[in-house]
Amino acid sequence: MHDKHTELLQQLTQAYTARYAGSQQSHARSLRVMVDGISHGARTWEPFPVRIRAAQGAWVTSEDGQQLVDYWQGHFANILGHNPREIVEPLLASLQADYGLQTGLPEEQEITYAEMLTQATGADQVRLTTSGTLATMYALMIARAYTGRKLVVKVGGGWHGANPLALKGVSHSGSGYGGVDSAGVSAAAEEEILVTRFNDSNALEELFREHGDRIAAFIFEPCPSVGGFVPATKTYMHTARALTERCGAILIVDEVITGFRYCASSATSLYGVQPDLATYGKIIGGGMPIAAVTGRRDLLALTSDSASPRVWFNGGTYSAHPLALTAGIAMLQTLKERQDTLYPALSRRATELRNRIEQVFADRGVLARCSGAESPVLGAGSLASVYFPLQDDLAPQGPDDLNDPRLCDVVLREQVLKLGLLLAGVNVVHGLGALSTEHGDREFDVTCEAFDRIALQIKGMPRRQ
Ligand SMILES: Cc1ncc(COP(=O)(O)O)c(C=O)c1O
Repeated sequence: MHDKHTELLQQLTQAYTARYAGSQQSHARSLRVMVDGISHGARTWEPFPVRIRAAQGAWVTSEDGQQLVDYWQGHFANILGHNPREIVEPLLASLQADYGLQTGLPEEQEITYAEMLTQATGADQVRLTTSGTLATMYALMIARAYTGRKLVVKVGGGWHGANPLALKGVSHSGSGYGGVDSAGVSAAAEEEILVTRFNDSNALEELFREHGDRIAAFIFEPCPSVGGFVPATKTYMHTARALTERCGAILIVDEVITGFRYCASSATSLYGVQPDLATYGKIIGGGMPIAAVTGRRDLLALTSDSASPRVWFNGGTYSAHPLALTAGIAMLQTLKERQDTLYPALSRRATELRNRIEQVFADRGVLARCSGAESPVLGAGSLASVYFPLQDDLAPQGPDDLNDPRLCDVVLREQVLKLGLLLAGVNVVHGLGALSTEHGDREFDVTCEAFDRIALQIKGMPRRQ
């Protein structure tokens, strides 16, 4: 840890431990039976996570009775806020009509959902599964089978779930993105996964020049979350499309976060690019577990029982779960009906919040920026990160810059800001997170007051020599 943060972090940790004593007790209990006390690494932090007992709209309530404005929003899935009426009511109605738990038989809702998703995204076909991790794994299996090639290209910091075909270059080492991130994956992953720098079209061209005839797929997110939501430039997106096409590789765009976040369709639709395959999750499930691989008919055909070679995109006891379909249909329907007002309003609100947060830090003399609004293609969107550049003129291009401790104060963002804001009633991830339709003036006021408190504390920190 940076020396300059030690004192403030200690103070914050002490105050946090006192404030969240109930969560601390639960944490001790959880550690006896659960590894690290949680079921997902992003749900914990030092010294222990806040444990939640209720969630409504923009807010969550902790076990300790603390109300928090929440920008994590179900891993960014809850664009309508927590437990919205639009989703909860159809779920309750389903259960009351003797419908909802898994039957293991095909159902009509599944077709309706598939029709809605393909129509909204312009894909030929879809195959459903239960998590984004599985979706990206299957998409890469399809690409490798179709091309008969092995190499997968991904960007440094790109997160496609703990999918063994893309588990390289996920964690920043302090000097860059590099090796395989997990034990237990095939030894071949080291050679078969190539990591490139996000938004660097020259690097991508170079890589395709060298390995083009051996590349099965290029997979990337239009706006990587660990990259502080710096969106792909138009040039990068179009370069990716052109290079994959030219080299006979499959372009897989991972829309698990971005799908239905910027419009009632894919983010790529705004770039005017049609990928060969796309993966979806989060928003499309309306808070329930659905994920999807969408794309070209000839590619998805490889997953058929009758295909040869066949990609075993099969199994999944809970695939197309009835309640998940109910929630997913309600979500897609709501977004379609309200798209003309919902998305512009979210963008407007996000711009207002970004401006207010940047002003708070400027007023207190702390160098901080809010990312996520850099794209003329995606607009202001509703995803953002607060970061602390070490130099005023940093123009971050994505994960490589924002997670590089030589360019940005990562500890300040991930630890100091996180705890400081939790003490002031706000839960953020990577400096901020996602807005929902439920984040209004009251929530912004609480948020900006919280940022102001932590800005003051940061300003009072001993300076680095
Ligand atoms: C871009 C992206 N792809 C894939 C995944 C994995 O999805 P899941 O957590 O549903 O397995 C995530 C999850 O955060 C993601 O952000």
